[in-house]
Amino acid sequence: MASEKGEVTETGTVASSNTMKPSFMSRVAAHFKKWWWAYLIAFIIVVLVVALPVVYVGYPNIAQGNIDDSALEVKSMVISDPTPNSFHVNQTQIVKTKSIFHPTIYSFNASVGLLGAAAPFATVTIPQLKSRDGEEVLVDQRLDLTDVSAFGDFATAAIQNEYLYVNVYGKPELRQRGLPKITVAYNKTATMKGLNKLQGFNLFGIHLSNQTADGTNIEGQALIPNPSVMTISMGNVTLDLSVNGSSIGTAYIKGLVLKPGNNTLPMTAQVDLLAMLNFMGKYPGTVVPVDITGSQTNSSVYDGQALSYFSRALASNKLRIALNVSQVVDSSSSSLPTLA
Ligand SMILES: *[C@@H]1O[C@H](CO)[C@@H](O)[C@H](O)[C@H]1NC(C)=O
Ligand SMILES: *[C@@H]1O[C@H](CO)[C@@H](O)[C@H](O)[C@H]1NC(C)=O
Ligand SMILES: *[C@@H]1O[C@H](CO)[C@@H](O)[C@H](O)[C@H]1NC(C)=O
Ligand SMILES: *[C@@H]1O[C@H](CO)[C@@H](O)[C@H](O)[C@H]1NC(C)=O
Ligand SMILES: *[C@@H]1O[C@H](CO)[C@@H](O)[C@H](O)[C@H]1NC(C)=O
Ligand SMILES: *[C@@H]1O[C@H](CO)[C@@H](O)[C@H](O)[C@H]1NC(C)=O
Ligand SMILES: *[C@@H]1O[C@H](CO)[C@@H](O)[C@H](O)[C@H]1NC(C)=O
Ligand SMILES: *[C@@H]1O[C@H](CO)[C@@H](O)[C@H](O)[C@H]1NC(C)=O
Ligand SMILES: *[C@@H]1O[C@H](CO)[C@@H](O)[C@H](O)[C@H]1NC(C)=O
Repeated sequence: MASEKGEVTETGTVASSNTMKPSFMSRVAAHFKKWWWAYLIAFIIVVLVVALPVVYVGYPNIAQGNIDDSALEVKSMVISDPTPNSFHVNQTQIVKTKSIFHPTIYSFNASVGLLGAAAPFATVTIPQLKSRDGEEVLVDQRLDLTDVSAFGDFATAAIQNEYLYVNVYGKPELRQRGLPKITVAYNKTATMKGLNKLQGFNLFGIHLSNQTADGTNIEGQALIPNPSVMTISMGNVTLDLSVNGSSIGTAYIKGLVLKPGNNTLPMTAQVDLLAMLNFMGKYPGTVVPVDITGSQTNSSVYDGQALSYFSRALASNKLRIALNVSQVVDSSSSSLPTLA
């Protein structure tokens, strides 16, 4: 009932305005003819007041939020052809984002370093990319270290930890289709698996070899597990061998390229056999604990040049294996002219 009454009233109003129409319309027309510019300015102001915050405040905030919410996953990372202050990096990263916006992020230079480090170790050029889930970002370039010591910290963290956190920071330009280009802060930390102290490292098939020209007298296989996605060229690696704090020799792995998964590599060593035989009797079952570690300055040598960053990382890691000296001697008995 009440709604019916309302309708009736409305009809009446329309009817009365209809009777005013000619004079009202001409008055309106005259009003606009005189004041059109004021309306235009008012309209522009309203549009600007509404649109500008959306485009220049809301959009950048949304875009920045999108960037902040996305994540990076390192799928593979190959470090090759190292020199004391540079190397080649070939890295595939995957963008993880749940956003419905897929802005284009233009190529930019980003600093890369360990999260929380005082300084980044290098600048990489991130190629143009579309910020959408599953997008692959390929960085394949020569990388000059801006801070060799910071990269030594990175390499040490990589060898020591189960996980490491790599920060990528830059200020790329970004554009969502149809909207202006803006600059955002790109501050992403990728979580990577590390080498976890090379846990599982072991030696196999260790036997005495005939004294060769290079002075080595033991050879065998080293098992080096690499749980990370990194492939690292360390060159010619030299490791110090000791038992109970006294040096017994040096081990060599030539052209070490550590790949993801289990690496089995030929190893040679120059060992003080008399010292070894001496220790043999001091440990139960002739199983001698052999400590293996790098030297600070030159345990990693590539093309004749010592790589301080990898050397430091190798020196930071103390490996210990249980070596059954009887077994070594037994498996070598066929080629034992020097000991007999
Ligand atoms: C870098 O890696 C990609 C795929 O992972 C490969 O196609 C490309 O050839 C590599 N580049 C170099 C220089 O090895
Ligand atoms: C990155 O830096 C290099 C060297 O400083 C420069 O040549 C290059 O134009 C920069 N790239 C971008 C996308 O800023
Ligand atoms: C990047 O983010 C990290 C925290 O995730 C913060 O510690 C760091 O200061 C930020 N870097 C810059 C340059 O804002
Ligand atoms: C060592 O030399 C002897 C002969 O001198 C040879 O029979 C043996 O196979 C050699 N062993 C190795 C491991 O080269
Ligand atoms: C290890 O060295 C210490 C002294 O540094 C010595 O007392 C101990 O007997 C040694 N152990 C063996 C098994 O040689
Ligand atoms: C590596 O070797 C260890 C022990 O030999 C084994 O337990 C592990 O499953 C191997 N890992 C891979 C990826 O093959
Ligand atoms: C490393 O340096 C030490 C002395 O600083 C030297 O005795 C040794 O031969 C060097 N090793 C390599 C592999 O260059
Ligand atoms: C390792 O040393 C050998 C000589 O013993 C050399 O021919 C080779 O080029 C070296 N490898 C690297 C990667 O430096
Ligand atoms: C060490 O090796 C010898 C000879 O191969 C073997 O008889 C002995 O059982 C081994 N000791 C241990 C503790 O495995």
